[in-house]
Amino acid sequence: MTAPTQSNPSIARAAVVGSGYMGGGIAQVMAMAGVRVDLLDQSVDVAEKSRLRILDEVTLQEDAGYWPAGTRSKLESLISAAPSFEEAVHSADYITEAVSEDPAIKLDILRRVSEAARPDTIIASNTSALPIGLLAESVVHPERFLGVHWMNPAPLIPGVEIISTPQTDPLVAQKVIDFLLSCGKTPTRVSDSPGFVANRLQFALYKECMTMLETGVASASEIDAVVSSTFGFRLALFGPFTIGDMAGLDVCDAIYTTLEAAYGERFTSPLALRKLVDAHELGLKSGGAGVYDLTAQDIAALVKYREAAYFALSKAKGELGAPPTLTPRNLDR
Ligand SMILES: NC(=O)c1ccc[n+]([C@@H]2O[C@H](COP(=O)([O-])OP(=O)(O)OC[C@H]3O[C@@H](n4cnc5c(N)ncnc54)[C@H](O)[C@@H]3O)[C@@H](O)[C@H]2O)c1
Repeated sequence: MTAPTQSNPSIARAAVVGSGYMGGGIAQVMAMAGVRVDLLDQSVDVAEKSRLRILDEVTLQEDAGYWPAGTRSKLESLISAAPSFEEAVHSADYITEAVSEDPAIKLDILRRVSEAARPDTIIASNTSALPIGLLAESVVHPERFLGVHWMNPAPLIPGVEIISTPQTDPLVAQKVIDFLLSCGKTPTRVSDSPGFVANRLQFALYKECMTMLETGVASASEIDAVVSSTFGFRLALFGPFTIGDMAGLDVCDAIYTTLEAAYGERFTSPLALRKLVDAHELGLKSGGAGVYDLTAQDIAALVKYREAAYFALSKAKGELGAPPTLTPRNLDR
């Protein structure tokens, strides 16, 4: 984890509308990269409270050694609670909205922001799941608008999803990607579909966990323990497709057969997977092609990396210790 140290010169000033969890974290990251940030919220008082919260959090993080000494005082001079919406928005080179996940609120804020901003100012939405194309309908000059979806807590999670619409100027998306890289983040472009990639997956998993909890398959703490110590452990290092190629696609297909018999159509083996299995393209075990086109060199490198990475992650988890033990509630109503 590295602290961002340089700003992208074309984005020297930013405005964050909605200064809650996400807006606060995004403001922190941008200010750590040297960007002057105006916070806007339902009132200046709310924005000022958020500014103080961010500074308190940064103090703790600085004391823990995450950021260089002096980060708090740097942020104190760079982050302000803006007294005037119009002035802050008009001065900004980059604006992100991080208001509540309510389409009516977001559409209204994006309309107001894009009317008050300079025509070349980049405008981003941090929506978790709303289609960016839908939000673009209220943006004046939609070619400078895109989705920039951060994860919580923004200062500590590397990945950010970048979602363009057909109207988004490709140069705008590239500028945002360069900016995020200069902030120390890991941007990935994804297409504009509800929930994008991260939340469509996260929430499919969450729903299945709730179903298992409701039907008594396991308790909340048992499910959490299994996830974080087994396949979730691997997911910190590899995505599902790399893991599938390493596990063997015939095994994945056989598991779907069992799951479909028990839980129905939602677990039917995907057609693309069936085709790979029929062609005996099973990933590592068949010597190469699976979802990825793996050469013998790729396989050797992957296996070597996997061993080193799992060993290092086990060690890091051991050094960190277990998370605090939580008491599950009885959710029967
Ligand atoms: N919480 C997460 O883990 C997470 C992760 C990624 C993205 N998001 C998305 O980020 C956005 C913000 O989420 P959050 O968790 O920070 O919520 P939050 O409730 O902590 O913050 C929302 C902020 O928006 C402000 N707000 C609401 N209406 C406003 C208005 N009309 N004008 C100005 N400010 C207004 C609120 O006062 C509040 O400070 C949502 O779209 C959410 O889906 C959340």
